[in-house]
Amino acid sequence: MTETKLLSAKQEKDIEAAGAILSAGGLVAIPTETVYGLAANALDGSSVKKIFAAKGRPQDNPLIVHIADMEQLTLLCAEIPAKAYALAEVFWPGPLTMVLKKSEIVPPEISGGLNTVAVRFPSDKTAQAVIRAAGVPLAAPSANVSGRPSPTEFIHVQQDLSGRVDAIMDGGACEAGVESTVLTLARPVPKLLRPGVVTREQIEAVIGEIAVDAGVSGKGDAQGPVASPGMKYKHYSPKTRVSIIDASPAEFTCYANQRYLQGQSAKDLFALCFEEDTQYLEMPCVTYGTRYDREKQAHTLFAALHALDTRGAVQAYARMPSKAGIGAAVYNRLLRAAGHRVVNPLGHYIVGLTGASGAGKTTVAAAAGLCGVVDCDAISKSPGIYDTACITELQQAYGKDVAPGGILNRKLLAERAFSNQANKRKLNAITHPRILSAVNREIEVQLKGGKHIVLVDAPTLFESGFDRYCARILVVTAGEEVRLKRIMARDGITEQAARARMAAQYPQTFYTARADYIVSGETGTDKAAMLEPMLAELHDGLKNTARIPD
Ligand code: TXA
Ligand code: MG
Repeated sequence: MTETKLLSAKQEKDIEAAGAILSAGGLVAIPTETVYGLAANALDGSSVKKIFAAKGRPQDNPLIVHIADMEQLTLLCAEIPAKAYALAEVFWPGPLTMVLKKSEIVPPEISGGLNTVAVRFPSDKTAQAVIRAAGVPLAAPSANVSGRPSPTEFIHVQQDLSGRVDAIMDGGACEAGVESTVLTLARPVPKLLRPGVVTREQIEAVIGEIAVDAGVSGKGDAQGPVASPGMKYKHYSPKTRVSIIDASPAEFTCYANQRYLQGQSAKDLFALCFEEDTQYLEMPCVTYGTRYDREKQAHTLFAALHALDTRGAVQAYARMPSKAGIGAAVYNRLLRAAGHRVVNPLGHYIVGLTGASGAGKTTVAAAAGLCGVVDCDAISKSPGIYDTACITELQQAYGKDVAPGGILNRKLLAERAFSNQANKRKLNAITHPRILSAVNREIEVQLKGGKHIVLVDAPTLFESGFDRYCARILVVTAGEEVRLKRIMARDGITEQAARARMAAQYPQTFYTARADYIVSGETGTDKAAMLEPMLAELHDGLKNTARIPD
């Protein structure tokens, strides 16, 4: 046992103390903007060795070296390609780790026998101050016992490392909550080794197309040569046995409730879900953000995994996060926490297909080959919706004359219902439940007919709340002028009227921020080709149908 000093990031003298411990060869856990790191002098092999001992970390898993100025980068690397400088310009200081050819100064303990070194310039002010106080670059893996979830709060570090390290510095909760993105530039085409806070799209916007290691999406894990050794170990595991349920929110809550109510030791089963799910769930819940706030998911996932353990959960069913943007990092960590247990309990995917008006949803649906397609617009206009009870409610809301003799005057109804927001809401309240059950009936028909992937073409996917019934969301986009012309042509209205209609809708970014997949609906694009990655992923996911976790 080592006596572990507790330091505070707010105290100048504690920063100095941390620097002194580190330059004397000791270990200090420090906050960074991603997760807490367990730091040692990166230029001294014997100090670095202590990290492996304290964490119980395999020696061949190399460490990231943290720097606080660009001169330290040139000291550590034998070769720095122009793309590395371009990325540093945009993302440093910040949560991007670059793997580069190492210089002689880097001790072999850092790089696990590789000829490269991983370098990161953290943006966290405390981390920077400690590096400067130590006067040397700092090696720092996440400050957890190897295999456990990464620490994003001071208390997590204390739980794992008290008595094993010289000091722990309290810097509050980490800003991002998920580790840095690891990208190797020590090859002609840079390759993403670990998804993180900086997304693939953001990197590609700076240096063009990059390769992605098979381990990133969970495939190819623990097989073949491993580009990033860290990815092959069991990682991020809470004691709780986690299984990811790959289904729509409604299917998830229904499935979890069923298993909970049937369970023998029901009280030990938890849901690891989004905040909006808790109202539907019977069992104890630990949340990790909300469905469309992927930053918040990243920020809270590790704390949620810790909470499962603290609350004594034996088993947990986890909501499937989106894999888009920073979601790739969230999914990657959760997949490892779940020991790769993913189950699609119903053997199908309902995919919501939506986007701004005029984007080209229908042509994309038509390109989806063997998928089932349900057209919500057509259903909403079908006579079946407007039964006697519905007509009566509409007359009560908008006047008898909207349906003289029980026959709907659609034009008058539209005029009155769309006259203001309150009237529109009233219409939705009357028609949406009816449309919803008609859509669900049509989905059932498609599934019974042997379709496993059903696209639900729903212009008002979010307004109607139907996104809760969709496991994935496919968004179709097109430029503003293209959409304008299409709306004018389709509905026979003036430019002014079309522009007013567009202004009343959500902007395109509202849709893309919620998308799992984005396909261009512009004229002349190869829509079938653009749908391929989605279909490949879903077909892959359908293979998990039979694997029911216990
Ligand atoms: O956000 C972060 O990166 C945090 C904070 C503390 O900076 N650190 C962190 O370190 O996550 P660690 O040790 O838990 O993960 C380092 C990852 C591992 O997957 C490791 O295999 C990979 O980086 N790595 C390190 N050096 C490498 C190298 N030379 N080549 C390939 N991968 C390397
Ligand atoms: Mg780690």
